[in-house]
Amino acid sequence: MSNEELINIAKLAWKNSVTAISDYGVGAALLAKSGTVYLGANIEDKGIPSQSNCAERVALQNAMAHGEREFEKIAIIGGKKSSGTFDLNISPCGVCLQYMLDFCSDIKIITYIDGELVEKDIKEFLNHPYIFEDK
Ligand code: THU
Repeated sequence: MSNEELINIAKLAWKNSVTAISDYGVGAALLAKSGTVYLGANIEDKGIPSQSNCAERVALQNAMAHGEREFEKIAIIGGKKSSGTFDLNISPCGVCLQYMLDFCSDIKIITYIDGELVEKDIKEFLNHPYIFEDK
């Protein structure tokens, strides 16, 4: 599946985001090595503190709940829900990067950076990652 196809699927997931607090929607499309694509969207509750979850973690949890354990790439797209336009500069947050590193340390991330659709290794976002190793 091409990166353009995957980002278009992420745009569909973006529509499902629940953005009660920020009005900022994020959609994710995660391609498992099985060939199946799993969707994720950020879901914000209104609690203080909020227990909101990001699109990337929702996608990964969705896939893992379906039994997937190996992943190829994840496309993410973000933008204000009220304006309906996509942001051409978005990186996964630190929590999502750490979370993905734990389950799929070789995953590729497809996103817009400085207006360009790029594919980057997760390690390009985390130069000196924390890796927990059981001794
Ligand atoms: N968000 C994501 O879903 N993924 C990211 O990588 C960055 C941020 C969400 C969290 C929150 O619901 C909204 O975007 C604004 O920060």
